[in-house]
Amino acid sequence: MGRARSGGIPGIGPVTAKKVIAGRPFPSVPDRPEEIVLAWYHRLGSSVEERMQKDSAAAATRWIPVMDDASLPEGGMKAVYPLGLNVVVARVGGAVHAVSGACPHLGCPLFTGRVVGSVLMCPCHDWRFDVRTGEFLDAPELRLAIYPVRTQNGSLLIGLD
Ligand code: FES
Repeated sequence: MGRARSGGIPGIGPVTAKKVIAGRPFPSVPDRPEEIVLAWYHRLGSSVEERMQKDSAAAATRWIPVMDDASLPEGGMKAVYPLGLNVVVARVGGAVHAVSGACPHLGCPLFTGRVVGSVLMCPCHDWRFDVRTGEFLDAPELRLAIYPVRTQNGSLLIGLD
């Protein structure tokens, strides 16, 4: 490792094996410069891929605390605004569900409606949604957006992508 190369590589210039592998451990250093460059591109490619996977995982879900878990009773419903997003949370069968807070019909605020069992009813024209799935019960191809929910240290958190 660290052997100096004379001449250089087009577009890169004079290099040493140490420069090409950028300080990363490399099990064997090829003898010819073009092999070094191919190895370098190979290493760079996997490094970029690894970095993209890490960035994607980090950006995948942000968990935003919205309220105390204990303040939402069974059958209860409340409007919350994680990062300004209009969301309704409701506790049904012991589980908390989160759906978009605006009715897809004419945009009425769903938190002013009612929850009966797992059915969330819009206050304006009685459209009914399954609060667990967001599904509009009269036309399942329509649905409210749903959001993941979890608890942490007594708080309810909404997951946003
Ligand atoms: S706005 Fe909700 S049913 Fe019309």
